[in-house]
Amino acid sequence: MTKAFVVGHPIKHSRSPLIHGYWLKQYGLDGSYERIDVEPVNFGDFLSNFRSRGFAGGNVTIPHKEMAFLSVERRTAQADRVGAVNTLWFEDGVLWGDNTDVTGFMAHLDASLGTGWEQDVETVLVLGAGGAARAVVAGLQDRPFKRIFVANRTLAKAEDLVRDLGGNPEVGLETCAWEAIPQVVPRVRLIVNTTSLGMAGQPPLDLDLSRAPRGGAVADIVYVPLETPLLAAAAAQGLRTVDGLGMLLHQAVPGFARWFGVTPEVTPELRALILADIEGHR
Ligand code: ATR
Repeated sequence: MTKAFVVGHPIKHSRSPLIHGYWLKQYGLDGSYERIDVEPVNFGDFLSNFRSRGFAGGNVTIPHKEMAFLSVERRTAQADRVGAVNTLWFEDGVLWGDNTDVTGFMAHLDASLGTGWEQDVETVLVLGAGGAARAVVAGLQDRPFKRIFVANRTLAKAEDLVRDLGGNPEVGLETCAWEAIPQVVPRVRLIVNTTSLGMAGQPPLDLDLSRAPRGGAVADIVYVPLETPLLAAAAAQGLRTVDGLGMLLHQAVPGFARWFGVTPEVTPELRALILADIEGHR
């Protein structure tokens, strides 16, 4: 039997076991995927020991992603760009780390907007400058945009992100002051919210989309609620919308493939299962 885990602190709210459990059953695999709560002081020991405890690998979540980044032997290019690792596995005895939020976000954008959607998009606006923003920007930088603006309430954090990720001269990565967002909105055909605004219990992200270009799209990585006030406002303007749940589902694909040897599919049935769980906890 192949065993995998999600490790974090706290961990009981993680929906990853539901996702991987669904796929294990769907593909009839002899495997398990379990939650493990590890405090930061014990995370180093956990990393050294999980293989001898019979685990093929697993996911890493808050607060261990940066420590995992520093501790693995090899990292994918995506993990290097983000500075955080959320997926661990062994290859020829070597401990690898990836950041699958990068490919997860982009896979969901492609699935929602259709392959080739980026052909009409020159300029993108990313709101927020935390860990999620780094994964989103790292993914967007692989596409042929002219410019990516990063707007954040605390401008210094946006400046740090641009300094750390601004390596590709073909895609101009620039900061945008939070107050200057209204001036940028008419120029961008994709807006991505990576802030916690709009999440249940948080204030909404108040953005005037009336001057956003027709045919543009708005993506939110918040998925509780599934339709955030921002996505509702975008739909009311006739813009295309991309919800946050798909990123959660798609980021799980590469890990499952590495541990269990089957590349799983993100299906409407899986989406419905996770949605029902979200609704059940609200
Ligand atoms: P994550 O790793 O999930 O991205 P994070 O690092 O805590 O989480 O980042 C949260 C993001 O939401 C930040 O960009 C934060 O802006 P600051 O850097 O200025 O704190 C943004 N955010 C949270 N509350 C906000 C608010 N009320 N208005 C604007 N931005 C907010």
